[in-house]
Amino acid sequence: MYKAKAYSVASATSPFVGDTITRRDPTDHDVQIEILFCGICHSDLHQARNEWSGVMPTVYPCVPGHEIVGRVTRVGSAVTKFKPGDLGAVGCLVDSDRTCPECLAGLEQFCPNPTLTYNFPDKHLGGVTFGGYSDSIVVDERFVFHVPANLNLAGASPLLCAGITTYSPMRHWGVAQGKKVGVVGLGGLGHMGVKFSHALGAYTVVFTTSANKKDDGLRLGADEVVLSRDANQMAKHAGSFDFILDAVSAEHDINAYIQLLRRDGNITLVGAPEKPLPVSAFGLLFGRKSLSGSPIGGLPETQEMLDFCGRHNITSDVEVIPIQKVNEAYERLLKSDVKYRFSIDMASLKTE
Ligand SMILES: NC(=O)c1ccc[n+]([C@@H]2O[C@H](COP(=O)([O-])OP(=O)(O)OC[C@H]3O[C@@H](n4cnc5c(N)ncnc54)[C@H](OP(=O)(O)O)[C@@H]3O)[C@@H](O)[C@H]2O)c1
Ligand SMILES: [Zn+2]
Ligand SMILES: [Zn+2]
Repeated sequence: MYKAKAYSVASATSPFVGDTITRRDPTDHDVQIEILFCGICHSDLHQARNEWSGVMPTVYPCVPGHEIVGRVTRVGSAVTKFKPGDLGAVGCLVDSDRTCPECLAGLEQFCPNPTLTYNFPDKHLGGVTFGGYSDSIVVDERFVFHVPANLNLAGASPLLCAGITTYSPMRHWGVAQGKKVGVVGLGGLGHMGVKFSHALGAYTVVFTTSANKKDDGLRLGADEVVLSRDANQMAKHAGSFDFILDAVSAEHDINAYIQLLRRDGNITLVGAPEKPLPVSAFGLLFGRKSLSGSPIGGLPETQEMLDFCGRHNITSDVEVIPIQKVNEAYERLLKSDVKYRFSIDMASLKTE
């Protein structure tokens, strides 16, 4: 075991402070990574503030962070995929049971016995896992990904959650040329959804509550940007979408988007608001529309997404911050005031 530097919160209402955590020494199959950048996902905020207490109560101290990119510093004796000096990336999962039908199908995101990167029972050390707001992490090589060499590292870190969470449902629901696709909420997930939808060739429409994001939506690859609080603009799109990705972090009216689906259209929730969202049955049944959810993605698809990003030169638009600004960043995230993901430069932790 060794000590690593980290930023943690001590309760749902405490700010982040510098802390020291224990990491395991790499076992035979483990890779030790010096973390270079870690994105700030809205899930980090939900978890740090115990907003998902009904589903995944937070154990304190909590060290979030599951958009991790870094440099491999040590490898166990049985490791074959990585050597010291390589780039390595870690997302929301650091382990699973590897034997269930979901794992065997490469759909580890549905494994009934996963280990999430933070706030999950740590099989090695006891207690809970600690995430990427830290200077290093030790992870089984199976759960570590290769980062295409052409990608900017600060911008690549959000691919590990925001990227795969939007890529996976788009692939599942057949987003492609000839399809009309909506993306609701131009935040960290939403802006990746726009980039993927555009790169996959679909006609892409952004729905935003922020009038000042209109130009960005177009620049990011949208064909149209709709202000979702403008009923006239919404009405123009009634019954026309094949697929809508809803990436909103807070309470909102999803029935307004169900109305925009064509027959057999699907709306997939990737956003995970604290409170349940009411759904009108009539909105779904006239038109045989469907409402789904989707969590992150499996290991093979996550590497596929990273390789896709490498080929298309896709990264997240990031505002790089030192870790000392994490509390301020959370307040700005709540105001939808980030274009479009914070990425923590972990070099800033060295000075603590
Ligand atoms: N399914 C998964 O596996 C998974 C993975 C990662 C994250 N998530 C969840 O996905 C959600 C989004 O995460 P994120 O990191 O992308 O968050 P984010 O960067 O904060 O983006 C959320 C966006 O939602 C919109 N929004 C916020 N409050 C709203 C409100 N009251 N009404 C309508 N729109 C509102 C804003 O977009 P506009 O300004 O454009 O309106 C905002 O930029 C979070 O709930 C997160 O926990 C799920
Ligand atoms: Zn996330
Ligand atoms: Zn499994």
